[in-house]
Amino acid sequence: MTDTAGTGALPVEGVPAARVLDEIRALRAADRPTHGGRLFAYVYDPGVAGLDELAQAAHAESAHVNGLDPTAFPSLLAMENALVGAAARLLGGGPGTSAPDVVGSVTSGGTESLILAVKAARDARPDLTEPRIVVPVSGHAAFAKAAHYLRVALDPVPVDPVTLRPAVADVAAAIRPETVLVVASAPSYAHGVVDPVAEIAAVAAAAGVRCHVDACFGGWTLPWLRRLGAPVPPFDFAVPGVTSISVDLHKYAYAPKGVSVLLHRDAGLRAPQFFAYADWPGYTMVNPVIASTRSGGPIAAAYATLRHLGEDGYLRLAEVTRDAVAGLADAVRAVDGLRLLAEPESTVVCFTADDPELDLFVLVDELTARGWHTQPQLAYAGLPASVHLTVTAAVVRRVAEFGPALAEAAAAARAAGPVVLPPELLALAGSLAPEALTPDLIAGLAAGLGLGAGAAPDRMAAVNTLLQAAPVRLRERLLVEFVGLLQRPTW
Ligand SMILES: Cc1ncc(COP(=O)(O)O)c(C=O)c1O
Repeated sequence: MTDTAGTGALPVEGVPAARVLDEIRALRAADRPTHGGRLFAYVYDPGVAGLDELAQAAHAESAHVNGLDPTAFPSLLAMENALVGAAARLLGGGPGTSAPDVVGSVTSGGTESLILAVKAARDARPDLTEPRIVVPVSGHAAFAKAAHYLRVALDPVPVDPVTLRPAVADVAAAIRPETVLVVASAPSYAHGVVDPVAEIAAVAAAAGVRCHVDACFGGWTLPWLRRLGAPVPPFDFAVPGVTSISVDLHKYAYAPKGVSVLLHRDAGLRAPQFFAYADWPGYTMVNPVIASTRSGGPIAAAYATLRHLGEDGYLRLAEVTRDAVAGLADAVRAVDGLRLLAEPESTVVCFTADDPELDLFVLVDELTARGWHTQPQLAYAGLPASVHLTVTAAVVRRVAEFGPALAEAAAAARAAGPVVLPPELLALAGSLAPEALTPDLIAGLAAGLGLGAGAAPDRMAAVNTLLQAAPVRLRERLLVEFVGLLQRPTW
């Protein structure tokens, strides 16, 4: 990062407000574009005029309010309860449904919701010394993070290379007496496919185990897509045996970042999620979520977003998103050598390359060079490398341009040819034990790949090729080391 003021973040003399904002805007110029429908990951853009301004004003209104104590700031409690009610109603819970007692909490994001779902399941079974969770490998990496943080063992279930879903028999077979939670995704992030939730929840229920549906990504789109006529399988509280569901409002509810909702079928299931502490001389503490002090900003911004868009607004946005998905999928089908990894059934388009002359990682770089930002996914456990596109409503205006851009980028990738790394480097990546990585080796690798201190290269194909050549544990270690190189203080 550049030191814009020549003095770092804490100058001796304060900088005038307008200049500070100019500095931030100058830094932001290097970012990928959060708006405009050319970035297919990280951001969710509805393309609705005035929505950002509303959310920003609402955020500012509550930014200094603290969610630490709901009795001190009833405004936040009211907005949180309203968000939980809206999410529960959308996902098959609330009065008049088969899940009338649904309760929930607002968290900072999908990862926090998933960690808390695992914590609630773990702490409901204090009798177990080695609790375990069953997660299809297509489940979000945040479950592995939860297992790691909470010292819960992870039992991965493979997915079929064609359907990209786990077999229910494999899920059932993975459940043991120590299993506290079984997971299904609706849909998975990587491929956008919905797991067989009803069947998975049934085998979990039969074993007396909780079942969490990770609808962080799709919980705010699948219900609208279903209303529009899409054949969305049952995945919410209407399914017996589903005990909790997560849905991120900062994804397809189009709220600014920092808001997810974790729902439980009833308050008893939620109880072990909380943490209370009175054994110290300070204030008695009770936290439903991981954070203690929490800004009201994201909650107010989400509340404003939902109220402003309303059901009609979300239905319209889902409709244009569905059309954009169809258009992008056609664009992929039209390019020789590219193949959809799964027929789109939600808001993801995911494709792979069948032609060895068409290197997907080079294709991603060629798209980036043309202003289209896609997400490469490494080959894993029998699944080929792929390119992921998260499709949001703003993409619909770009669909016509995407097809020619993809064709052009594919032609350029073919012309450039696949990435060729020195054979000794590939051999090293394939054989090196993570523990054998020395600082010198890491520095050498990083320099060779163009990963300088504080900056990533424009072209990432070589980095992705190296990572892909490495076994999973080495991939993880390299990622940590490479990002550690980027995260260095500026003085
Ligand atoms: C299915 C799913 N679960 C969980 C998460 C994690 O969400 P977050 O990045 O908000 O922590 C994501 C993020 O993309 C997701 O797609």
